[in-house]
Amino acid sequence: MTAFKTLDDLGDVTGKVALVRVDLNLPMQDGAVTDDTRIRAAMPTVLELADKGAKVLLLAHFGRPKGERVSTQSLSMVVGAVQDTLGREVMFVPEIAGDVVKQAIGILRAGDIAVLENTRFWKGEEKNDPELVKAIAANADFYVNDAFSAAHRAHATTEGLAHVLPAYAGRSMQAELEALEKALGNPVRPVAAVVGGAKVSSKLDVLKHLVGQVDHLIIGGGMANTFLAARGVDVGKSLCEHDLTGTAEEIMEAADKANCTIHLPYEVVVSKEFAANPPSLRTSNVHEVAADEMILDVGPTAVEALADALKTCRTLVWNGPLGAFETVPFDAATVALAKTAAALTKEGVLVSVAGGGDTVAALHHAGVANDFSYISTAGGAFLEWMEGRELPGVAALQR
Ligand code: 3PG
Repeated sequence: MTAFKTLDDLGDVTGKVALVRVDLNLPMQDGAVTDDTRIRAAMPTVLELADKGAKVLLLAHFGRPKGERVSTQSLSMVVGAVQDTLGREVMFVPEIAGDVVKQAIGILRAGDIAVLENTRFWKGEEKNDPELVKAIAANADFYVNDAFSAAHRAHATTEGLAHVLPAYAGRSMQAELEALEKALGNPVRPVAAVVGGAKVSSKLDVLKHLVGQVDHLIIGGGMANTFLAARGVDVGKSLCEHDLTGTAEEIMEAADKANCTIHLPYEVVVSKEFAANPPSLRTSNVHEVAADEMILDVGPTAVEALADALKTCRTLVWNGPLGAFETVPFDAATVALAKTAAALTKEGVLVSVAGGGDTVAALHHAGVANDFSYISTAGGAFLEWMEGRELPGVAALQR
């Protein structure tokens, strides 16, 4: 990994204006923020800069307003939640550049914090327009990017600003990049990856990339059915992308060539209907799924075998649940393997990194989210990283 500057490289920032890109794309219901994880992620950086005496201007997007001012997507809606989580007073500024921001900076004292308006109200944000970049930068002394989860976007405030101002990774960005480096950049081998979720089509590039990177690839969730079908298994009524069996075969061939062992479930939990604890629930050998049954989880014996494989590994990267984990008992395989990974991590023999919305929810459900080495809250950015793609927001910091 190319080096990047962190807050440790900053000199005296007293009275200096910091533009800090954070991710305030927060889940809301009835006008209230329902989960402040992303505010908490940005908190160490924001408070460190404020406590060192900088004037801290937070830049973030919210939703996809496509270059228009949409009142329901104003960041003024999240300022209360930011204040509550940070435990500091926070000013709201309804612009991101120009005189209004300049005046606000005049009012702010050293150590004060402000949230600027939703960056996506300006068309130039998503276009990474140099004029907008220049206008935003004009009011500031330096730029900090603490939004890994938006780093897959080459936008004015995620990428452009890093080229025109002294640029630093915030603490959350730094922790994320260091964890990801340990997981796939420069991992201790053997490395296992768990890739689950409903559809192969949404994670094709992830699977293609991983077969060349990891020693064990554990495929679960609905996408495993497409691989099983490619191997000639009759998956009954299961979710399956039959048009992608050829692609699944290619991935399995590439894995063979790269000495990557693909683990598919040989025992599964099936049911005739998708409901909690359905009467038709049973565990079956994967070759004995009836035409009117669907596969909804990996069976218990097969999960034990996966746990045994994991015990031989030193690094794990996990994205996507193994079964339909929101509905009991189809959470069992995900919970069991997550507990094994957490126990190995606690013993100090495994570095475990997980990411993606569903995965984080599943690990919380299993009660082990705090026992993994690192959990990324990023969605799209985490997936693009698993695809081996360069993230523009990160690359700009690594110049
Ligand atoms: C996210 O919520 O994953 C990030 O904030 C990126 O949002 P976007 O997909 O709208 O760019």
